[in-house]
Amino acid sequence: MRALQLEKPLQFRSLELPEPPPPAPGEALVRVHRVGICGTDYSGYLGKMPFFSYPRIPGHELGVEVLAVGAGVSQVRAGDRCSVEPYMNCQQCPPCRRGSGNCCETLKVLGVMMDGGMCERFVLPARKLHPSSRLSLDQLALVETLAIGCHAVNRGAPQPDDHVLVIGAGPIGLSVIEFVKLSGAKCVVLDLNQQRLDFCRDRMGVQHTIFSKGDGAGLEALRDLTGGALAQVVIDATGSHQSMGHALNYCAFTGRLVYVGITQQEVAFPHAPIMHRRELTLLASRNALPPDFTRIIKLIEEGEIDTRPWITHHAAFDEMIDVFPTWLRPESSVIKAVMHVT
Ligand SMILES: NC(=O)c1ccc[n+]([C@@H]2O[C@H](COP(=O)([O-])OP(=O)(O)OC[C@H]3O[C@@H](n4cnc5c(N)ncnc54)[C@H](O)[C@@H]3O)[C@@H](O)[C@H]2O)c1
Ligand SMILES: [Zn+2]
Ligand SMILES: [Zn+2]
Repeated sequence: MRALQLEKPLQFRSLELPEPPPPAPGEALVRVHRVGICGTDYSGYLGKMPFFSYPRIPGHELGVEVLAVGAGVSQVRAGDRCSVEPYMNCQQCPPCRRGSGNCCETLKVLGVMMDGGMCERFVLPARKLHPSSRLSLDQLALVETLAIGCHAVNRGAPQPDDHVLVIGAGPIGLSVIEFVKLSGAKCVVLDLNQQRLDFCRDRMGVQHTIFSKGDGAGLEALRDLTGGALAQVVIDATGSHQSMGHALNYCAFTGRLVYVGITQQEVAFPHAPIMHRRELTLLASRNALPPDFTRIIKLIEEGEIDTRPWITHHAAFDEMIDVFPTWLRPESSVIKAVMHVT
């Protein structure tokens, strides 16, 4: 069977692999139809992703079809189309036992720390499959990206009518925006990139956007929008350590700040005048939980999430190696690119 492998940074290759073994008890053999491409894959390609090791078959945003199941599997059967929860957790460590498999102490994400879905068929634990008879294969591949935003908004727990500031309107920020809207809170989006803010207004129904040059003018704009109170919940989806340090300034007194973007650098912020004086709560957000996948599938099925703005680019398996680098160029205006495996 065919697969695409990142041999090393900047070098994809197509390879022939032996067929996967039949599924063991608790496992399922799946055929991969769609693979969504995200920032993690671009960083892996560029050699800028610290958790990524080589050679690696990428692919963690998947729309698959069950081909066969092992003994004891009852939640899916052959023919089911599914989204994949790509977080392989041990089920034994303290966070797993507490129900936080999203941050298992030995977590391995498919396509990042272990081979993923850019192949025709593979075997995985059946409990990681979330079936839907109504979602398209493209929509199934989108569920994981949406789950990142869903979990981040759950961490911030906005109340209806709260102001939520989303900093960074890349795909992760957009997935956050979907769930801020569903919470009934008022969504404000801030970015340095006017094109991305325009997309939020024109395609995502966001009323309030703030263009920031990083010169502090954004704070005044947020004060104006919130009657001086600032945002009860701030969700930073930039991955910029400068933005993450500065984000506390946008928080209302007793507000909550969620870091869903990731940085390897140190984040610095003023403690006494901001963090302490406003009694802020700082939260990380890692991956997502199984109920997030179930909820998102239902929301798409019921039309509560409109996936149409999301997928902007497609490529067939055979084109992928040539097309992939073009998606890295800002002028391609990619929101979500999807590879068709079969
Ligand atoms: N928490 C998780 O489990 C999880 C999962 C996937 C990705 N991520 C992380 O989420 C982050 C965002 O991913 P993405 O694919 O949307 O990235 P992206 O680079 O496409 O988007 C980031 C956006 O932030 C904006 N930005 C950058 N610096 C800014 C600043 N100082 N002020 C305002 N806006 C600024 C950029 O203009 C851009 O629009 C990354 O750090 C990624 O690693 C986290
Ligand atoms: Zn992803
Ligand atoms: Zn664990």
